Amino acid sequence: MAAATTTTITNNEPRSTDIKSSALELIGNTPLIALDRIWPGPGRILAKCEFLNPGGSIKDRSAYSMIKYAKQEGKLAEGAPIIEVTSGNQGCGIALVAALMNHPCTLTMSAGNSPQRAEMMRGFGANCELVPQVEGKPGNVTLRDVEKALERAEGIIAQTPNIFYVEQFSNPNNCRAHEETTGPEIYRQTGGRIDAFIATLGTAGSFVGISRYLKRQNPNIRCVIVEPEGAEVIAGKEVTKPLHLLQGSGYGKVPELFDYNVMDEAMSVTDEEALKYKNLLGVKEGLYVGFTSGANIASAVKLLESGKLGPDPWIVTLLNDSGLKYSELHK
Ligand SMILES: Cc1ncc(COP(=O)(O)O)c(C=O)c1O
Repeated sequence: MAAATTTTITNNEPRSTDIKSSALELIGNTPLIALDRIWPGPGRILAKCEFLNPGGSIKDRSAYSMIKYAKQEGKLAEGAPIIEVTSGNQGCGIALVAALMNHPCTLTMSAGNSPQRAEMMRGFGANCELVPQVEGKPGNVTLRDVEKALERAEGIIAQTPNIFYVEQFSNPNNCRAHEETTGPEIYRQTGGRIDAFIATLGTAGSFVGISRYLKRQNPNIRCVIVEPEGAEVIAGKEVTKPLHLLQGSGYGKVPELFDYNVMDEAMSVTDEEALKYKNLLGVKEGLYVGFTSGANIASAVKLLESGKLGPDPWIVTLLNDSGLKYSELHK
């Protein structure tokens, strides 16, 4: 055993420290990792580790942005209650930010989303109301299920004066989070070398915000969206399969925040492809993530295989949340 060493502080000279003042400072600045084991080249898949945010997903960024700017814009009074409809990840982010900014918080969520999400929201002190499914089944949440959670929230809003309704699907501060943080981080981390950016969409906040920033730096960066096969509404197709594994994305409706001006291409992904790459991320890369992350990597591989990006392209994508947010029932 090595001998213990003791450091004696003999004076009061200022020392540099590296201490975060709260969990809010843990949001963002996530690492970008090369998935060289899944895709050894030519070309590279670079993935932003959003599951490392303190609420376990990319949605911490939009939560912080929407609450911070609501306070600045005078829409959220000191100590006033907050409410949101969520598939879980946005709710975890909002519950975390609300706890740190001293706001009581209610989240309504379809019971078809995984129970881990409700547990996490409650762990941050929020009231999470689970709304029974009307169409899907556990792990497959449809637009009608989400609409039920929305109705429940509207009932609460009607009875609660001063309540701030976050409205992630139409709140411009959702996209702004990514235009101000995720996009610039990606550009800096790659030294500006990006041939394509590819992502699934829920509200479209992350895709639109990141793409807007990247295209301002370089309009030639190819921005590609991914939709579940059978629910490819942005690609202009009829919804034939509303049930899919990509919880938090692919709601079968063009999101209000979506902006066709920043999209170059739409791709689709099957449940089997998403699951295959979700599993490969764990086994080959040591990254235990959720289904939309698997969908993103499956699509990045297809894009590289297509050869349309030229020689040795770099594709950036997102690992949106942790695999711990899903239960066995939902696989
Ligand atoms: C797991 C997961 N992936 C992707 C997304 C899509 O993010 P956005 O709402 O920014 O489009 C979400 C949104 O909730 C999500 O929960």
